[in-house]
Amino acid sequence: MKLPMPAALVRNLWMILLIWLAPCACRLYGDDTKPVTFDGPVAAIFKRHCVQCHGDSKQEAGLSLAGYDEVVKGGSGGVVVVSGRSSASRLIEVITAEEPTERMPPKNDPLPDEAVTLLKAWIDRGIRQNSESAGVAVKALGFRPSGMSKLEGPPPMPQTLPAFEKPKTVRPFPVLALAASPVAPLVAFSAYEAINLVDSGSGQELGALAFPEGEPHVLKFSPSGAVLLAAGGRPVQSGLAVLFDVKTGKRLAELGNEADAVLAADLSADERRVALGGSGRVVKVFSTEDGSLLHTLSKHTDWITALAYSPDGKLLATADRSGSIHLWDAATGGVVLPLAQHKGAIRALSWRADSQVLASSGDDGLIVWWYVSRGWPLTSKANAHPPARPPGVYGKLAAGVVDATFGHQGELGTCGRDGKARLWADDGQEQQAFSIAESAVAQAKPARSTGVPMLPTRVVFSFDGRVLIAGDSWGRLHFWPTAKDKPPE
Ligand code: HEC
Repeated sequence: MKLPMPAALVRNLWMILLIWLAPCACRLYGDDTKPVTFDGPVAAIFKRHCVQCHGDSKQEAGLSLAGYDEVVKGGSGGVVVVSGRSSASRLIEVITAEEPTERMPPKNDPLPDEAVTLLKAWIDRGIRQNSESAGVAVKALGFRPSGMSKLEGPPPMPQTLPAFEKPKTVRPFPVLALAASPVAPLVAFSAYEAINLVDSGSGQELGALAFPEGEPHVLKFSPSGAVLLAAGGRPVQSGLAVLFDVKTGKRLAELGNEADAVLAADLSADERRVALGGSGRVVKVFSTEDGSLLHTLSKHTDWITALAYSPDGKLLATADRSGSIHLWDAATGGVVLPLAQHKGAIRALSWRADSQVLASSGDDGLIVWWYVSRGWPLTSKANAHPPARPPGVYGKLAAGVVDATFGHQGELGTCGRDGKARLWADDGQEQQAFSIAESAVAQAKPARSTGVPMLPTRVVFSFDGRVLIAGDSWGRLHFWPTAKDKPPE
């Protein structure tokens, strides 16, 4: 979605970006005694193996490898070399691809090992042009995962967020992503180039985080509530995942450098890994400590639409647009099980707190509670959100379940194309239904009428399970007290 923005705003965003990047410019990858330079060995490799298709006369994928500036600029799919991070560089990915149909140069032997090693070293030491030029600065990560250890002190809430002016959009921007802190009355939801933070009890705004990289499609809190993962980007341009410190709003890490917006992502329970995916059909697993690519999981044959780490940190579940789900060993990236039942795009995966049950739901209107250790459905619910048939409309109606999320007690919250949010007991019995037309809306100001139907887009429980919260296609939040809203014993 392209939205017009005044030039001043764009300039402001650039300023914000520059301010972020400034402190990191200190770390240069040039201190190695043997710099590898483009002029000479690197250029020779490209000239011999690549420029016939990526050169002056022909530029496959809009990419020229004929000169230093061209290589750094990248192709129509985005940048191909990330200074200091060969493991996150598309160029290294394509020359080392195991699948011959995905490897460069195409229909040819893979590059000799020495050439691959040299290209990696060139990137890792700062993509220098020649021995006179300095290396290109790398964004230092410096993120220290908490492991599984419990945090001391009060549950993290935003305290001193960096000041920032939210970009104004002409049309209402749908809530593409919504997350609740597991330990504090804090909800995060996506806006255009921003993440809003509100109090889940009062709905009061607590501040916002800038996401100048585009649209956040995914938001998730770490189990400790101290770290917020945001992932997204710009369609067919760029995608990444960012980790924020919840208290200060500071960026802790930036992971991935994708050629398209990230559609699905999660942070492992020990905060050591981020898995992400999108139209690239593979799931990439990055180390949060050094940004390196740990695993590329390739079993899906369609866009990755949802993924989630189990709360015990052992498994990773991933799902795609054609309805396939795969379970992976979170530590090794090894295949564990496929889960086959859905007939349409999967929109949500959620783990029950005990890591025994995974819920999946999607465009086919089906919710499945999977008994993970056996790989079979414990129970399922078809047509979970049946839309009312408008008069004079015949044929099949879209009946999708757009989101599903477990509460702490094993209850499942869902929302769907029928305009409702629903609560399900762990045996698949419906407990409650809420209409978004009849709710307390957090942002009362009505969105300007645009003909966009008002539908729920995401759903989440507050940290104490007492409030079910939904985002909608008009960029607003809805709050419903659940039946569990009774005083604690
Ligand atoms: C025979 C022609 C040919 C040669 C030789 C060749 N490429 Fe490519 N390359 C292509 C084509 C065609 C594409 C577009 C593929 C696609 O879009 O699926 C491409 C795409 C790419 C991309 C972009 C991939 C993406 O999805 O972003 C990179 C990076 C790349 N090539 C690197 C190289 C490198 C490095 C070499 C040399 C080791 C090389 N290529 C040699 C034809 C070639």
